[in-house]
Amino acid sequence: MSHASPMIADNIEQYLQEHENKDLLRFITCGSVDDGKSTLIGRLLHDSKMIYEDQLAAITQASKTSGTTGDKVDLALLVDGLQSEREQGITIDVAYRYFSTDRRKFIIADTPGHEQYTRNMATGASTASLAVILIDARHGVQTQTRRHSFIADLLGIQHLVIAVNKMDLVDYSQARFDEIVAEYQPLADKLNARDIRFVPISALEGDNVVNASERMPWYRSDDGQPGTPLLELLETVEISHDSNLADLRLPVQYVNRPNLDFRGYAGTLAAGILRPGQTVRALPSGKTSKVERIVTFDGDLNVAYPGQAITVTLEDEIDISRGDWLVGDQEQVPLVSAFESDIVWMHETPLEPGKLYDIKLATRDLAGKVTAIDYQVDVNTLEQRHAEYLDLNAIGRCRVELTAPIPVDDYRTSPGTGSFIVIDRLTNVTVGAGMIHKPLDSELPYEYRTHDSKADVVWNRASVTPAMRAQIKGHAGKCVWFTGFSGSGKSTLANALEVELNRRGYHTMLLDGDNIRHGLCKDLGMSEADRAENIRRIGEVARLFAEAGIIVITAFISPFRKDRDNVRALFDEDGFIEVHVDTPLDVCEQRDPKGLYQKAREGKIKDFTGINSPYEVPRAAELSVNTETMAQGEIISQLLKVL
Ligand code: ADX
Repeated sequence: MSHASPMIADNIEQYLQEHENKDLLRFITCGSVDDGKSTLIGRLLHDSKMIYEDQLAAITQASKTSGTTGDKVDLALLVDGLQSEREQGITIDVAYRYFSTDRRKFIIADTPGHEQYTRNMATGASTASLAVILIDARHGVQTQTRRHSFIADLLGIQHLVIAVNKMDLVDYSQARFDEIVAEYQPLADKLNARDIRFVPISALEGDNVVNASERMPWYRSDDGQPGTPLLELLETVEISHDSNLADLRLPVQYVNRPNLDFRGYAGTLAAGILRPGQTVRALPSGKTSKVERIVTFDGDLNVAYPGQAITVTLEDEIDISRGDWLVGDQEQVPLVSAFESDIVWMHETPLEPGKLYDIKLATRDLAGKVTAIDYQVDVNTLEQRHAEYLDLNAIGRCRVELTAPIPVDDYRTSPGTGSFIVIDRLTNVTVGAGMIHKPLDSELPYEYRTHDSKADVVWNRASVTPAMRAQIKGHAGKCVWFTGFSGSGKSTLANALEVELNRRGYHTMLLDGDNIRHGLCKDLGMSEADRAENIRRIGEVARLFAEAGIIVITAFISPFRKDRDNVRALFDEDGFIEVHVDTPLDVCEQRDPKGLYQKAREGKIKDFTGINSPYEVPRAAELSVNTETMAQGEIISQLLKVL
């Protein structure tokens, strides 16, 4: 490699040492072949002398035969090999290129410019500190300029360099350059990035790429000094302040326990500065301890910075597992199970709200779903519009709900702990990437109960949730609650409904009054209090079945409104369907299938519903049916419709 440092010849050891200690700038180039992106990258590699001699010889030769630049070396040929592959759709991955100067090392993430490569651009931008956005001086701000700026900004890139290229084709006109800067301004105002600079260049001629252009003496910085060429901007842009040093975040990747004397928590420091002796708090447990040692492959550290892979030992044995975070002991980190985020969709199968995905956030994996797409952003116009799904390359503001509360950060303050990927549970393929915008006060998960027990108990959370059980069953659990007089037809209808559902492949369970009173409720009689307890027990059992993803059908007189409403309160809004079997009392009495009405009339049974105990008619039943006037088939089809 023909790196032009005299030090290589004089003192190779010192050169290597300095090279090692040089800091690194990762940047992304945005633009298409037409904007001169390949030429620009080729120019950077060439003028920084970071190409192999034989490579240079080869493209000098190729330029003569297939180049488009006359007798000049066509630098685009350096990178176009990949470009053409991409155009044929062979590879659409991000191409990473490396080069270095005496001042810095660089990694360029080179991604294709078209809209169908949005996901690639997002991938490339996710680790970049700076984006070079190319504009063709002849065409000015284009749709894709907006798209590139928006995506770079969305991914939290804080430094944008708007390179106005092909200045040679507009006679190096200051007026044209100023026009483009003015054209970009309204867009700049909408972005979060504060460091936005404009450089007039000609990648083809080399103006202001590596060397300052003599043809554009009008290019000046704000303080009137000669304007800085692109490479110098890349060499000097201040990125050390970009990382979050104020908050401490160490997501634990794994617990290292080689023997009984050592227990270390390994992970990459996502934010903050960590020193031995510092008090840290583990999340979500909230337990605190002091850092004992910071162990690395190269020995212990006195201080660790963001991006460093470390293993931390603590003074106390506190329970920490993979996925937990270590944070500063005074820091308030929200523990939530829902948040608002921007999701870039990366798969042909669209994002489907309500579907369960695996969400990987920092070092933690858990199940979750998008509960709503607030809007999709048109990446070209930046307009927001309604969306039911997110297609490949679409970007949307989504609400995400997880199956357990975890600590989350805002992506803009801590990208490492504020971003996540979405994984398909069946194929294990990464289908999306998200950036957390803000935590949401989530409703407590469905199965959670506040403390209401005679015993000293806590609520234990199961890893498999009702949503996950329902997904395997293909439908959610529900409760269809039949209520009405004895003999009104509840058991007959309940039975017929179960037959129909069973035939259609639904998972069902039937709870019938008479039968339950043979077992679970055999200790209960017919007093008002016993009936209340009867219905309470059935309600709880029905709920358990529904949590298992089963459609529960119950047939109980359940004469008291309060008891029925208590059961209803155990379910989601659409999880409880109350069906009033409103067959008139005289019809029921006439039917008297068990001879009980007669006994009641004779005074042999006390507290008999309708005779000497009241029945409170439902006020807001989902359905009311009458087995005297309606055919059973008609009732069942109405029920299926409600379900
Ligand atoms: S509930 O009121 O607690 O809901 P449940 O549906 O379990 O009653 O039981 C009702 C069944 O018990 C009736 O179908 C009937 O066969 C029988 N039964 C026995 N005694 C009574 C009574 N006093 N009132 C109503 N039903 C009774």
